[in-house]
Amino acid sequence: MIELFCKALGAYLIGNLMGGQLVGRLRGGVDLSKVGSGNIGATNALRTQGKGFALAVLLIDIFKGVAAVVFVPAVQWSWAGPTDVSTEIQAYICGVAVAVGHCYPVFSGFKGGKGVATLAGVFGALMPIALLWMLGGFILTILLTGYVSLATLVAAALSVIYAAQLGLESSAFGFAAAMALLVVWKHRENIQRLTKGTESRFEKARVLGR
Ligand code: G3P
Repeated sequence: MIELFCKALGAYLIGNLMGGQLVGRLRGGVDLSKVGSGNIGATNALRTQGKGFALAVLLIDIFKGVAAVVFVPAVQWSWAGPTDVSTEIQAYICGVAVAVGHCYPVFSGFKGGKGVATLAGVFGALMPIALLWMLGGFILTILLTGYVSLATLVAAALSVIYAAQLGLESSAFGFAAAMALLVVWKHRENIQRLTKGTESRFEKARVLGR
């Protein structure tokens, strides 16, 4: 039990390493929380700083999600995810911890990001087929609407639907449902803006349904 607590704590602390903050410091003190939507993730980095900055933020935040569920719990692995039930549950717990660490980092006054890229890394490692579903819905929604936040919510819903067909009592479903709730909660202001029609969108990305 203590070992599991230490692993979850390690994953939480990995989550505290915010790509947006690291790249912002390397770029002379850019503070994403003070520009655009105020979020420190890759979407706001793209909106306010450009592609190179955003890509670096995205890769760091994805990598920490992968690292927290692959290296911290020492999972036995195959191409389709964990092969051993005990390490699989440890990996899900570390997945929750790294996402919470990103969304509520103790070293930044619990003001973090929305967990999207980090969770993409976690899902890529633990449920790669779910990530394919999620990416499909995400890309299609962006092509149709230009809204990254809406695309993220669609991806979260698809992760739950995918996990549900694995079994409502599976740890995969519990994990996906909990993470979808976290993502919806972190996007509550985006949801308000979407309903009011004031959410910012990437017009150039919207190529269908114009
Ligand atoms: O990656 C988070 C995205 O879903 C929304 O970001 O900056 O538009 O609030 P943002």
